Formats: sequence, structure tokens, C-alpha cells
Amino acid sequence: MADSNLSIKGLRAGYGNLDILNGVDLDIPAGQFVALMGPNGAGKSTLLKTLYGMTTVKEGSIDWRGEDIAASKSRAILGEGISFVPQGRCNFPVMTVDENLQMAAYTIRDAKVKADRDYVYDLFPILKTRRSTLAGNMSGGEQQLLEVAMAVLQRPKVLLVDEPSVGLSPAAIGIVFDELLRLHADGMTILLVEQNTKKAMEVAQRAVILRLGKVIWDGTPEDITHDELGELFLTGKMRGELEAAH
Ligand SMILES: Nc1ncnc2c1ncn2[C@@H]1O[C@H](COP(=O)(O)OP(=O)(O)OP(=O)(O)O)[C@@H](O)[C@H]1O
Ligand SMILES: [Mg+2]
Repeated sequence: MADSNLSIKGLRAGYGNLDILNGVDLDIPAGQFVALMGPNGAGKSTLLKTLYGMTTVKEGSIDWRGEDIAASKSRAILGEGISFVPQGRCNFPVMTVDENLQMAAYTIRDAKVKADRDYVYDLFPILKTRRSTLAGNMSGGEQQLLEVAMAVLQRPKVLLVDEPSVGLSPAAIGIVFDELLRLHADGMTILLVEQNTKKAMEVAQRAVILRLGKVIWDGTPEDITHDELGELFLTGKMRGELEAAH
């Protein structure tokens, strides 16, 4: 559906006087699964935060369903169908899974809290079995699933997810990515920031690489060669990791 494209044009944004994004152009068609990659400090999190109204936009536009949301506040953006799972842990650790989902439901106007929770328990059966467990006592993978579930409770059209695999075991990474793939199969548009390039390339339909606040590569994962990826990242650490993976 052309009208639910997310279309970013000439976006310059950052924190106060500091510009981090230096003219980002990116069109994301409805239903696409996009992996956003790039070296540390490239501006990946800043781009997600900007889409979610959390930075200062200086120039450019973010067109979402015919409206420029570049100056909108997070609450309004959430209401328009864009949900955000930030980098790092972002649950309420001394509340149970159930209570965390209740907290997430408070942000929904006319929330039918029970129905909303049942909806995510159907989507994430693992969480249903842990509903009375304190979030902070769960494994990292389970907590990451809870955080995705809290965002999905809003029934978004677009899900922004920042580095969900950090600190997780390979098995937990597999579970989180399987859930993202399932949401995508149900029609959700996903913009995923991921340092685990190998995993990201497996799940995403499109790879976008950001460096110094600009998109420097955009294409399908099949189109990018191993050497190109190493060159594009241009950090010894990343290149070493890639070599180790092959
Ligand atoms: N709240 C903030 N205030 C000022 N500068 C910030 C803030 N958050 C991030 N920055 C700076 O913005 C730049 C880009 O950071 P960002 O977090 O977007 O990078 P990233 O690509 O997500 O990196 P990483 O892979 O390490 O998560 C960095 O130089 C960072 O120090
Ligand atoms: Mg980041």
C-alpha cells in the first residue's frame, strides 16, 4: 500500500546544536523488513529516535501516510502506528510480565487491557507462561521478547527495534528473530538496527548501511558482497568479526 510508506527525505537531526544525521534519504514500503547497520556512532539509534520524535530535527521531512511527522511528539507518533523498542533493557524490572504489559497498555487510548494482553500472549506464548515472573528475573532473551511485546501491544504498523540481540545467547537470539519474522509475516513493517550483520542479513529483505549520519549503501542482502560489507563498515573490529564469521 503506497500510502503507508515511510518516506524520509533530506533528514538532518541530532541533539541540540549537534547534528548527527546529515541528510538521510530512505523510503520504506509498507510490510518491508529492513536491517539498518553501520559502525558504532554512525547514527543508527539516532535515526530510530528521530523517527520516534526524540531528537531535534533541523531539516528534511518524515512522511508517514501523507503527513509530515518530523516535528511530532513521541506520543502522537505512537498513536499514528509507529512503535519503538529502544537499545538496552527497557522494562520495569521489579514488576511482573503481566504488570509490564499493563503499563504498556496505559499509553493506549480506550485500552481494553485484558484483551490487549491476551493479544500479545497469543503472539508470544513464552510470555504467557512467565506472566507472574518479575521481568528483572527473566533471562535476557525473555526480557527482550517482553520489550518487543510491550511495543507490539500498541498494534503498530511499523516497529522500530534497536539492537535486540545484544548480550543474548545464540538460542535466545534465534527466538527473538523468529518472533520478528513472525510479526513481519503478519504484515508489520520492521526497521531493525543490528550489529550482528550475519543474522540481520538472514532475516531482512533489505540492508541499509549508515555511516557518519548518511546512507552509504542500500540494497538486498544478496547484493552485498562480503568484501564490500567490510569496506563499508571500515572499522577493524567489524572487519575482524566478519572474517571470523567466514
Ligand atoms: N543524547 C545524546 N546527546 C548527545 N549526543 C548523543 C546522544 N546520543 C547519542 N549521541 C551521539 O550521537 C552519535 C551517534 O550515536 P548513535 O547512538 O546514534 O550511534 P549508533 O550508530 O546507534 O551507535 P552504536 O552502534 O554504538 O549503538 C554519537 O557520536 C553519540 O555520542
Ligand atoms: Mg545505537
